[in-house]
Amino acid sequence: MALSSVPLSCLFLLLLCLSSRPATAGRQSDARGFISAVVTEKGLDFAKDLLVDQAVHTLVPLHLANMEKSFKIPLMGGIRVKMSNITLAHIEVSSSTIHPGDSGVVIEVTGAAANLSMDWSYAWSTWLGPFEISDGGRASIQVKGMEVGFTVSMENQEGSLKMAVTDCGCHMEDILITLEGGASWFYQGLVNAFEDQIRAAVETAIKKKTIEGISKIDSLLQKLPKEVRVDDIVSMNVTFVGEPSSGNSSVEFDIDGLFTDAHKVVVSNLLHMNSEPSNLCEEPIPMLGISLNEAVFNSASIVYFEAGRMHWIVDKVPDQSLLNTAGWRFIVPQLYKKYPNDDMKLNISLSSPPVIKISRKNIDASIFADMTVNVLDGSEVVPVACISMVVTASGVPEILGNNLAASIVLGDFTLNLKWSKIGNFHMHLIQGVMRVFLNNVFIPYVNTRLRRGFPLPIIHGFALQNASILYSDSRIVVCTDLMFTEL
Ligand SMILES: *[C@@H]1O[C@H](CO)[C@@H](O)[C@H](O)[C@H]1NC(C)=O
Ligand SMILES: *[C@@H]1O[C@H](CO)[C@@H](O)[C@H](O)[C@H]1NC(C)=O
Ligand SMILES: *[C@@H]1O[C@H](CO)[C@@H](O)[C@H](O)[C@H]1NC(C)=O
Ligand SMILES: *[C@@H]1O[C@H](CO)[C@@H](O)[C@H](O)[C@H]1NC(C)=O
Ligand SMILES: *[C@@H]1O[C@H](CO)[C@@H](O)[C@H](O)[C@H]1NC(C)=O
Ligand SMILES: *[C@@H]1O[C@H](CO)[C@@H](O)[C@H](O)[C@H]1NC(C)=O
Repeated sequence: MALSSVPLSCLFLLLLCLSSRPATAGRQSDARGFISAVVTEKGLDFAKDLLVDQAVHTLVPLHLANMEKSFKIPLMGGIRVKMSNITLAHIEVSSSTIHPGDSGVVIEVTGAAANLSMDWSYAWSTWLGPFEISDGGRASIQVKGMEVGFTVSMENQEGSLKMAVTDCGCHMEDILITLEGGASWFYQGLVNAFEDQIRAAVETAIKKKTIEGISKIDSLLQKLPKEVRVDDIVSMNVTFVGEPSSGNSSVEFDIDGLFTDAHKVVVSNLLHMNSEPSNLCEEPIPMLGISLNEAVFNSASIVYFEAGRMHWIVDKVPDQSLLNTAGWRFIVPQLYKKYPNDDMKLNISLSSPPVIKISRKNIDASIFADMTVNVLDGSEVVPVACISMVVTASGVPEILGNNLAASIVLGDFTLNLKWSKIGNFHMHLIQGVMRVFLNNVFIPYVNTRLRRGFPLPIIHGFALQNASILYSDSRIVVCTDLMFTEL
């Protein structure tokens, strides 16, 4: 899917982006998508842990600019101390939190420790003359009780999510510099004078990296496609709709979710939607609940139908005698009489898009089709009769990888003779044969197409884990954990 073009290095935050609250808090948009996703507390924690892990990885090793300080020492002259090769080599995070807030998602890292190393050297000059003596060595710096907090705001900007750091702070409780080499006892005091400068440099660097990281993700978000191609006919419209909204410990975002084809826009007011709260997942609450309105499936149905992909010529079946007039000798004698022992071909054409209805108990599909019976009379194809069918089936959705797939099971069907060139014949006569045909040929054929399914809007690099599917009125909900797969 097209979302796969997002480079890994910036994926970790995407989950968050999808889930934070708009900067423009309070602006309530009535617009709702047909697919909505609720990132639960567990999901937010998962995203936060990924984010912090990744942030630490991108931060170290961090090289800071050299520092230099000159001092005047009474009677002795001036001394110039230089710190170079200042490297932040290790950060250890002991705890972190994430909260959806009024102005965005707030992420806080507390009690972090860091180790830095650097080279130091000095030169000095005395009143006796302009000569310099140099010495130098290594120093290690330990930082304790480091806190980093930032707020990331999100808003829907023309169907994309715009993400920005609105607030970023960094604070260090303790900083301890230890010198190795040289006359370190003597210079310790001078080195300590660098404490504030080091503190400021590390704080600035962490803030800068955070803002850079988020803006990198923001620019990737802007580049996310608004449509995800499913196959050569349909795409899913993954335009964000409305503003992300947050609860106390969860955030919800909506995407349009309808299927479209390259040229036509499905008229969405044909498609009914309701607007119940969408988090229906049961204990233990998983990371993510993705709710799909039945309109999503009906839009796919309409697009495939309008693309003319719901025609099917049947000339091979498991029981080939079904496709010879001889097989129908006792059921429709006049057919056999007129075309003895001729092969037949069925032309099945859906007469309108299948309609999918989801209720608390099941998923029902109604399929409206015309079946034209063609006889192969020598080299000629002769249409002899047309039967219109209404087939009802129940759907069983399943998760395959990151795809939502389905299969159907035949429910009921009704037959009507639309026209006939071989005289009238009673539909109840062919009922039994048609049941066999629908069960053994038609339904399996539909199922091979449904089994492929379509991708759920999950960012590349993540996989669904322990997914389950719930039914509700007019929608189904996929309740799932996520796993970070890509490395
Ligand atoms: C800088 O410090 C690292 C250790 O942190 C050391 O491996 C490296 O050799 C030093 N570079 C220079 C130019 O001194
Ligand atoms: C920092 O360095 C000290 C001494 O070298 C070591 O004991 C400590 O484990 C290090 N801490 C981190 C977070 O690397
Ligand atoms: C959020 O928490 C407050 C108090 O903690 C509670 O009154 C409110 O109902 C909660 N809202 C939701 C949507 O859970
Ligand atoms: C995709 O959805 C958005 C929001 O609902 C809508 O404005 C846009 O026209 C849709 N695009 C297509 C191609 O249907
Ligand atoms: C099949 O039937 C449909 C209408 O029922 C017709 O449009 C189509 O041309 C037929 N196809 C063939 C190959 O006979
Ligand atoms: C999720 O599935 C894995 C294996 O597939 C299992 O080990 C784990 O316990 C499951 N987790 C939950 C919460 O069901």
